[in-house]
Amino acid sequence: MTTPHNIESVLKENRVFPPSEAFSQQAHIKSLDEYKALYKKSIDEPEVFWAEQAEAVHWFKKWDKVLDWNLPDAKWFINATTNASYNCLDRHLTGPRRNKAALIWEGEPGDSATLTYQQLHREVCIMANVLKKYGITKGDRVIIYMPMIPEAAVAMLACARIGAPHSVVFGGFGAEALKERINDSGAKVMITADGGFRRGKIVQLKPNADTAAEGTPALEKVLVVQRTKQDVSMKEGRDFWWHDERKTVSDKCEAEQLDSEHPLYILYTSGSTGKPKGIQHTTGGYLVGTTLTTKYVFDLKDEDIYFCTADIGWVTGHSYVVYGVLSNGGTSLMYEGAPDTPNPDRWWDIIAKYKVNILYTAPTAVRAFIKWGDDWPKKHDLSSLRLLGSVGEPINPEAWMWYYNVIGGGRCPIVDTWWQTETGAHMITPLPGATPLKPGSGSLPFFGVDAAIVDDDGKEVPANAGGKLVIRKPWPSMLRTIYKDHDRFVNTYWSEVPGVYLAGDGARRDEDGYFWIVGRIDDVLNVAGHRLGTSEVESALVSHPAVAEAAAVGRPDELKGQALVVFITLKVGVPPTDALKKELRDHVAREIGPIARPDDIRFAEGLPKTRSGKIMRRILKDIAAGAQVKGDVTTMEDLNVVAKLSASSGDE
Ligand code: PRX
Repeated sequence: MTTPHNIESVLKENRVFPPSEAFSQQAHIKSLDEYKALYKKSIDEPEVFWAEQAEAVHWFKKWDKVLDWNLPDAKWFINATTNASYNCLDRHLTGPRRNKAALIWEGEPGDSATLTYQQLHREVCIMANVLKKYGITKGDRVIIYMPMIPEAAVAMLACARIGAPHSVVFGGFGAEALKERINDSGAKVMITADGGFRRGKIVQLKPNADTAAEGTPALEKVLVVQRTKQDVSMKEGRDFWWHDERKTVSDKCEAEQLDSEHPLYILYTSGSTGKPKGIQHTTGGYLVGTTLTTKYVFDLKDEDIYFCTADIGWVTGHSYVVYGVLSNGGTSLMYEGAPDTPNPDRWWDIIAKYKVNILYTAPTAVRAFIKWGDDWPKKHDLSSLRLLGSVGEPINPEAWMWYYNVIGGGRCPIVDTWWQTETGAHMITPLPGATPLKPGSGSLPFFGVDAAIVDDDGKEVPANAGGKLVIRKPWPSMLRTIYKDHDRFVNTYWSEVPGVYLAGDGARRDEDGYFWIVGRIDDVLNVAGHRLGTSEVESALVSHPAVAEAAAVGRPDELKGQALVVFITLKVGVPPTDALKKELRDHVAREIGPIARPDDIRFAEGLPKTRSGKIMRRILKDIAAGAQVKGDVTTMEDLNVVAKLSASSGDE
């Protein structure tokens, strides 16, 4: 067996969709040449470029110097002062935007609310004053454990207003995960709700918060928003209702003038092993990154209604439900519940009802809609949509085509945005009026992003060769550290390939400079001496008309090193037969070559996913090897999936 070295890339995708003239003409960035000129400037003269672009943000005081770069420690906009809450609210209050919808919200049961910029500002000031009343001052951490209701955004902006770094814990996490995050962050105050609605049931937030609070000695106060009106216990002296507390404070609260490097938030992200990492973002650079990407990547205009389906518990909810959109004075639509409640057309119903123009979602959702069938979206008028976005995983080319044709009516560009919790903002992404689109590719780097593909020795590889994705220059919205663990920050991101940021993804760059993510490096398949990314094998499977979703993993094999095992979810109504298994094996061999012919195909009702929708391949690896599922499963969406998969394994 040859020693596997660099990742090979095998999937070929030749379709190209240039932007329509009509779209380009009205776009902020109108042509590829315009993008290229700005990109060149951003790389050749980054400090000049960022000084100009930073004008998109309001500063109380301007910087003395744009960047201090002491690898791997970056400081952006030195000695400048600003405030994220001020940028998202106050600066819009002096003109016509003050009466514009900042948030449009729909609850799962069908209730709804709209908050103008003026109204949102008032709510934020009141909540900030309640936090002050609890003794929260600049630098104190606050935990937010909320459903997707307007008060979640209010809570984030209230913290930002007074310089208290927030740490949002996804509402789907249980007491144990919450406790760990409260303790790691050392938060004195938690903002939560009695519960939230999801799939017609109540998510038990307050009971979980109570259990967590039994093991969190530093936590002093819990502010509770009433959402479901279920009975919950309120501990005397610790727990207070928001609807009572808001009456006790003033509705005026000046935004703190914070140093550009003041921490805005800590967001915990779990790697495949080990304890969650508290990714720490700062104020000035993060605001510049999210404000600019929102404007250019979503081509956001004042009249747009923008709907990002991410939960505020994820970075996408931070950057592209709250900060980036509001900083631009946009209208952000928030939806509380599940996409299939009461039926699998809830999003399409919302889009038609509010005449949404921009939809930003994840491939996992797109594949679920494909599985449920075209009839659901076809029942609704989606003609208001003008732009679609994708984030979170590689989008398989066939899923891209479905999204483009069935949801976008063949008229809407898709921005496939590659980025991470750590990067804070989009890094590799099309600009919709400029970039010709290739299904499955995140295309070209955003301004200032010096991305490259390197081999195991850190050397840049030629076009179309696979390798590791790295970023060679600092960028304003980059993470500054892992909270209380700077060594882990250095080791995780800055050590394996010296001098550059290691993203942890495998990728290739094609002859046009387009980036194609082939999967996480940890998941790379090693078949008979070939190292293959998971996403290419999976995309080949998803291109078969019977398949909705696929996950590829390796199983130890004496002869080949690893045998290729694939787990497949079929579209609704397709019978899982042996003949189909054979057909799928042949299909993959035809699409990408005989080395990638799966050894073992398993049909599954569902795949194990993280709460944010990423396929958990390490769990499938254990199942494929017939082993006990190991490691942290607390972030898994549905534990039953594993039980079912384990029970049906070995049916070959
Ligand atoms: O593997 C990449 C994948 O998601 C990872 C980052 O995950 P997280 O920190 O949870 O942030 C998700 C939202 C930004 C990346 O390392 N990923 C994200 N977007 C894409 C993607 N893979 C391919 N294409 C994308 N557009």
